[in-house]
Amino acid sequence: MDRRDVLIALGGLTGGAAAAGKMALAAPVMPPDLATCHDANSSGLGDNLKCCPPYTSADIVDYTFPETPLRVRRAAHLVINDHEYMEKYQEAVKKMKELPDDHPWNFYQQALIHCAYCNEAYDQVDFPTVPVQVHYSWLFLPWHRYYLHFYERILGKLIDDDTFTLPFWNFDSDDGMTMPEIFTVDTSSPLYNANRDTSHYSPAILDYKYSYGNTAGSGETGKALVLANLCYMKKTFKQSLPLAELFMGDPLRAGQEADSTNGFGQLESIHNAIHMWVGTPESPHIDMGDFSTAGKDSIFFSLHANVDRLWHIYRMFRGNKVEFTDTDWLDSTFIFYDENEQVVRVKVRDCLKPNKLRYTYEEVPIPWMNKLNCGKNTETKEKTKTELSLVRVEAFGSDPRELSNTALRVMVPRPKKSRSKTEKEEKVEVLLIKGISVDSEGPARFDVYIAKPYGDLAGPDYGDFAGTFVRLPHKGMKGKERKGSLKLGITSLLEDLEAEDAEKLVVTLLPRIGEFTIGGVGIKLLQTDNPRLL
Ligand code: C2O
Repeated sequence: MDRRDVLIALGGLTGGAAAAGKMALAAPVMPPDLATCHDANSSGLGDNLKCCPPYTSADIVDYTFPETPLRVRRAAHLVINDHEYMEKYQEAVKKMKELPDDHPWNFYQQALIHCAYCNEAYDQVDFPTVPVQVHYSWLFLPWHRYYLHFYERILGKLIDDDTFTLPFWNFDSDDGMTMPEIFTVDTSSPLYNANRDTSHYSPAILDYKYSYGNTAGSGETGKALVLANLCYMKKTFKQSLPLAELFMGDPLRAGQEADSTNGFGQLESIHNAIHMWVGTPESPHIDMGDFSTAGKDSIFFSLHANVDRLWHIYRMFRGNKVEFTDTDWLDSTFIFYDENEQVVRVKVRDCLKPNKLRYTYEEVPIPWMNKLNCGKNTETKEKTKTELSLVRVEAFGSDPRELSNTALRVMVPRPKKSRSKTEKEEKVEVLLIKGISVDSEGPARFDVYIAKPYGDLAGPDYGDFAGTFVRLPHKGMKGKERKGSLKLGITSLLEDLEAEDAEKLVVTLLPRIGEFTIGGVGIKLLQTDNPRLL
């Protein structure tokens, strides 16, 4: 018997108990039973979304990995002048759109795959009350890697070109920080989609801190905004290199709700903000601003190709180490429809090396690796205490607190101050925000800042940006609240803040859109799974 059978035999795996999220579950998330697929839902588009695939009764086989030549994905802002490539790409998407409506390769059928896996069309096998969900956890990156893999190969097949690749939206480079023009300029192109915030078309610069109705978190524009994004990316890597879950998301096991206690990684947050930035500014935020429709915009696949590339870079920075050696991750299984018209089963463990999927990324400069002038201005540091108008900030306390219109500032004790280099290499200091409920179905975002206190008092300055919690509009699982937590690595941030010797930190949660209840804010030392590299 495998561990899952043992659990079932022990009678522990009932939906109810598992849904309570209290059990120690130990089994990988299994592929959905396609035959039980049912209507999906979205906050903006209702409860009766038809997202099930047309092959719910097909035989499922293990995927045979390709032995084709290595395909090279190129940057979207660079392929625009390659007419031959652009013609192929448009031709392939056009053909996808012209397939019969119920053909699994049809463009809209392909978009429904995302809807089904993200908008609760499937329940987890053995857990009828727990939907399958591939966001908000360690499943996020592998699932989307496979989704792109099959999509790309189907496009290649349609134009009979086994070198075809999707372009990546190089949004982590200066020249890539606008919406790629291959998707925006020609409104008659098959790559065009009208459901977008057209005020964000080039030359508008992407803002990683975007939330609807709000411009940049700190109001930067032009070059300053590009720099702010690069600094944000650099910080995301630096903070999360010591521990994979900070970047990739928390574990999610069979029977566990993605919308329960676990948190997503900071790469997913940045990606969510980009979805928002592309989607329509008014509700429903289709197509990109809602998971159920996002796959209907070709730009989705370029956004995700770069997210995938950033995962690949993260992995290289960590010496190509397996991010989680836990078989509950490695054996998590999904189902897709491949370019040979087979319904196939794939496991996370088989997608960790792009080479095995026979693709790679064109090498482009990585500007956020350079020395950047990311420091905040230190004006307040030089002021005297009396000039600073210091305020008293209380501890969080034991009761949940509301976060809606105004910033919530709390004084948080650290487990240990002035840690040595070796101590820091062993354990990463992590800010933990627990019990976050999103009290609405709409888009939601709050940002987190950390400052060094003046004794027991806080200055007016929120300090340094530490990370963010961003969610697209979504209905709670089975009508329940949307919940989660947030984990941010802060070891390097405290060095930058020169707050190593502080016993406490001033943590500011700045609501940007939506309303939240927060369960608690604390700081912990977590064992690193990787010595610090940057
Ligand atoms: Cu499944 Cu970009 O989302």
